[in-house]
Amino acid sequence: MDLETLLFSQGFGSRRQCRGIIAEGRVRIAGVVRDDPRDDFPVMPELEFEVDDHLWTYREKAYVALNKPAGYECSRDPQHHLSIFHLLPPQFAERGMQAVGRLDQDTTGLLLLSDDGAFVHAFTSPRRKVPKVYLATVRHPLDDEQLTKLREGVLLHGETKPSAALAAARRDERLLELTVLEGKYRQVKRMVAASGNRVEKLHRERVGGYALPESLAQGAWRWLDESDLAALRGEPGKTP
Ligand code: URA
Repeated sequence: MDLETLLFSQGFGSRRQCRGIIAEGRVRIAGVVRDDPRDDFPVMPELEFEVDDHLWTYREKAYVALNKPAGYECSRDPQHHLSIFHLLPPQFAERGMQAVGRLDQDTTGLLLLSDDGAFVHAFTSPRRKVPKVYLATVRHPLDDEQLTKLREGVLLHGETKPSAALAAARRDERLLELTVLEGKYRQVKRMVAASGNRVEKLHRERVGGYALPESLAQGAWRWLDESDLAALRGEPGKTP
């Protein structure tokens, strides 16, 4: 792959901007400045390159986990708050990465992003039932009746079929662990409201078999590798 195409594919701007970055001598491969956009490099197995002293690895498709803080909208064109893309390198938006299902602006925790359309579709399709584990701090003490309602199904406003949690458990008097399979608009808040309580804080802990890493600080992101993707798909123990 030539150098211009390499930078372009990784989100470093238009082809013209990529040629400019290269001509300015800002790109190095194996420690050597590369200033010819037509220079050719094999991208396999994993080509590393530096732009402005920052090290990147070529990725055909990008998969990322973000520990989303409150106060950020998942849209690239937010209405009232900053976009989550403020927390990420500009190359991510440039190469077309998008959130894999949205979290409300006040929800925290695990958010996946990718530019792999098939992956985004597979994990957001209503037909693909991916369990998502949420921790909800609720206003009123949880009782068994509420938990039973959540497990057996509650009717959400405007819907004809009840929505049931895969699991609903009390972690504390006012801390609910809820596992849902669908990703309907404000699903957890609406389900909890329909069970007679109210969500005051919401955090996503897990998607499929992939849990938010404890080492990932709020606002920080990390690449997902093959074993993370296998865990997401519910294939624990599978190695790359
Ligand atoms: N359910 C909600 O109500 N909000 C979220 O952000 C995610 C799930």
